[in-house]
Amino acid sequence: MCGIVGAIAQRNVSEILLEGLRRLEYRGYDSAGLAILSAEGDIQRTRALGKVIELEKAIHAETDGKGLQGSIGIAHTRWATHGVPSKENAHPHMSSDDVVLVHNGIIENYQDLKAELKTQGYVFNSQTDSEVVIHLIHRELKLHDFGQAVKNAISHLEGAYALAIMQKGNQDELWVARQGSPLVIGVGMDEYYVGSDPLALLQVTDRFIYLEEGDLAHITRKKLTILDKDHNVVERDVSVFDHKVGTASKGEYKHFMLKETFEQPTVIKQCLEGRISATKVLDQAFGVKAADILDQVEAVQIIACGTSYHSGMVTKYWIEKYAGIPCQVEVASEFRYRHTVIAKNTLLITISQSGETADTLAALRKAKEQGLLASMTVCNVPGSSLVRESDLCLMTNAGPEIGVASTKAFTTQLTALLLLTVALAKRNGMSEAAETEIVTALHQLPGLVEKALALDPVIEKISQLFADKHHSLFLGRGPMYPIAQEGALKLKEISYIHAEAYPAGELKHGPLALVDEDMPIIAVAPKNDLLEKLVSNLEEVKARGGELFVFADESVNLYDLDDQHLVSLPTVPCCLEPIVYIIPLQLLSYHVAVLKGTDVDQPRNLAKSVTVE
Ligand code: G6P
Repeated sequence: MCGIVGAIAQRNVSEILLEGLRRLEYRGYDSAGLAILSAEGDIQRTRALGKVIELEKAIHAETDGKGLQGSIGIAHTRWATHGVPSKENAHPHMSSDDVVLVHNGIIENYQDLKAELKTQGYVFNSQTDSEVVIHLIHRELKLHDFGQAVKNAISHLEGAYALAIMQKGNQDELWVARQGSPLVIGVGMDEYYVGSDPLALLQVTDRFIYLEEGDLAHITRKKLTILDKDHNVVERDVSVFDHKVGTASKGEYKHFMLKETFEQPTVIKQCLEGRISATKVLDQAFGVKAADILDQVEAVQIIACGTSYHSGMVTKYWIEKYAGIPCQVEVASEFRYRHTVIAKNTLLITISQSGETADTLAALRKAKEQGLLASMTVCNVPGSSLVRESDLCLMTNAGPEIGVASTKAFTTQLTALLLLTVALAKRNGMSEAAETEIVTALHQLPGLVEKALALDPVIEKISQLFADKHHSLFLGRGPMYPIAQEGALKLKEISYIHAEAYPAGELKHGPLALVDEDMPIIAVAPKNDLLEKLVSNLEEVKARGGELFVFADESVNLYDLDDQHLVSLPTVPCCLEPIVYIIPLQLLSYHVAVLKGTDVDQPRNLAKSVTVE
């Protein structure tokens, strides 16, 4: 998704901006650009279709290898929403060489504004919604100073935006604003930086101010002034970035996704740290305010998108089974626009790796208006919008996840949500023995995940049987159904093979018609109460000539499947099955994607953090 970097510094900002863009590459984008004011105050702008490296080449070509020089600048990676990916649509956008801006988000009323600006003589050079904002600012500058022009312009905007704006001949002022899209200000020594994500700026600072909804900021080298939505001057806290959460480097791995997959035993340990004793889930695991709130929970509503939605689906099985509390799960983009009924004393849980997903944030705000007992977010990014807007937060502590296809964020979400399940279950009659059983299992979890990862060479071999397939079907039952869904999502995201998931019992109601020798069917079959039922479903597939790939408990002997079709996993305590069985499916999709030569970490058309609707 679009990324913003900006800097007003005592030195040349060119490399600060380019390094910031490189650090944002993981979010997914299709073009990049930057603008720097020259010593004379002229706007020097370069844009390029494709990766940041293409932008660097373009700068090299345009400056005869000298690079751009200037101490104030803004830069952007674009993920197309309005208008195709192209150099013309890439940011920064300018109005008459006088003002220049980068924008994340969507201006919903851009068509009306565009029509109005056209009648006033403005010529549009792109198909983007963003261009209206810079022409509006230009129009207001005819009557007002820079700051007032920005304030007036944004008063016309409907929708979501994070903006950074510079003016020709004005090396001393950078204006930024946020409404619905994240923006942080990095604090340096007589320097300030701007980013849509703190990760973009870690090379220059670890001190950040997170702007709040409706905030505007006037930034000079010596002074930062933040105004709230009513334009009152406000103070916002400076937080120090916790480097323990890890750095964004691939290390010895070929792809971030592989690195993050193999980090899972470590980050699961990190997620459990300080939250469990030998036999108990500790009360302080959920923060000081939690105990009172958890005592009153009578219903749970989970809201999330993508992979995070799948961890919500698994959690529904857990909460209803162990805590006996009704639990609903819905994708945020549906929840936010539906007429919803919230049950009395509902704990609303948002699940999000980034904490910035626009639909999830909007759904949270809507639910809060309807009246909740409390909101909790299960999130991986400290200081993110969901963390700031929720009553309680349960951090997953997985460290930055860069691969667009989520891996370690998913398994740490599940780990954290299992802890929460126990906390709720204890309040609803779970025995000490049952709690101890789950906590003992959680202590074994990193080791079990290691064992599942050790299957990597076997799975790499199997992946060869998938590379020429066009379709696939994933099956599971009970809490393994969402795991089948997550496995299918992984495969389609990075290998572009069409993958569908079904609860295995539903096979006979339609998808069985698809089964033939060209359709691989992947099933997850731990040894649990539903195994026999699942095996009967697989018989139905076999009888129709389908090619089965089964990931099963080592004690299960299924038909006459060979080593390439039956992969054995260690016996796993029932509550941990979803967390362990997703591992081979992550590895399978990774290896298939590598064989197919796709861009594993940044698959086409997708973004890591979807901050627009
Ligand atoms: C995007 C990402 C997915 C992610 C989803 C929800 O689609 O590509 O990997 O699962 O957003 O993101 P969140 O940050 O809210 O978990």
